[in-house]
Amino acid sequence: MPPSLNELAARLRFCRHLVVLTGAGVSQESGIPTFRDALTGLWSQFEAERLATPAAFKADPALVWGWYEWRRAQVLACEPNAAHVAIAELVHRVPRLTLITQNVDGLHQRAGSPEVLELHGSLHRPCCHACRRPYALTGPPPLPDEGQRLPPPRCVHCGGRIRPGVVWFGETLPANILKQAEAAARDGDLFLSIGTSALVYPAAGLPWTAAEAGALVVQINPDTTPLDRLAAVNLQGTAAQILPELVTRAFLKTGESGRLP
Ligand code: OAD
Repeated sequence: MPPSLNELAARLRFCRHLVVLTGAGVSQESGIPTFRDALTGLWSQFEAERLATPAAFKADPALVWGWYEWRRAQVLACEPNAAHVAIAELVHRVPRLTLITQNVDGLHQRAGSPEVLELHGSLHRPCCHACRRPYALTGPPPLPDEGQRLPPPRCVHCGGRIRPGVVWFGETLPANILKQAEAAARDGDLFLSIGTSALVYPAAGLPWTAAEAGALVVQINPDTTPLDRLAAVNLQGTAAQILPELVTRAFLKTGESGRLP
């Protein structure tokens, strides 16, 4: 029988190394669209091949840069939600926490999470497509609309085009970040997969690595995913509903005995 929410809270309370993997679903309640929602998902409205590949950037740099600047503006207009805040709170509650995200929105950091392994990069760290040197963004983006072309700036060092600091389809993930994420997945005793469709590898492989190494894998998602058959516990609901409750039960609602109710 799968553990109840209270039993899970107890596992969280006494865990040694908590590993959290988040996807677009964790930011959904901040007003940021996910990728694969049938109606509102970014990849339901836009063609990923025209926007999120090196070939797309080569073919139409202004279309791609404009779209990512639109997304950056959208993200900066949103606030972290109760799920981001609950995850940030956990850093102070467990002996060790590794936070891994596929998100490029920076909301975990804005909620107070000090260290985040950003597997797919960040909208806030563009770099030169040619020499890879970082590019310092000046001020907020000019609020382009979703289809507006914006020519990307040029690199002051080599004159190359500045590109979004995200990982595109067909590109490899930052090796050192992936290595740290995989090491954490092998070492953790409790693995929370939150708000991800668990379809995009190598991120989607991390819970499998964790389970193989003996961790308890828990999923928080209102929908079904390929992870349903792996997770020891599937908490069906939204991240901002479930996570604060889990953290409260684990650390704040203890009786005088110090035991969970
Ligand atoms: P998806 O859009 O594929 O999946 C979002 C998941 O979040 C779905 O399983 C939803 O059911 C779930 N969800 C929706 N609302 C939720 C909520 N309020 N609370 C909890 N869960 C919720 O997004 P990702 O799995 O993050 O990569 O997508 C993975 C990668 O595919 C992205 O990082 C991006 C994309 O292409 C790149 O761009 C490289």
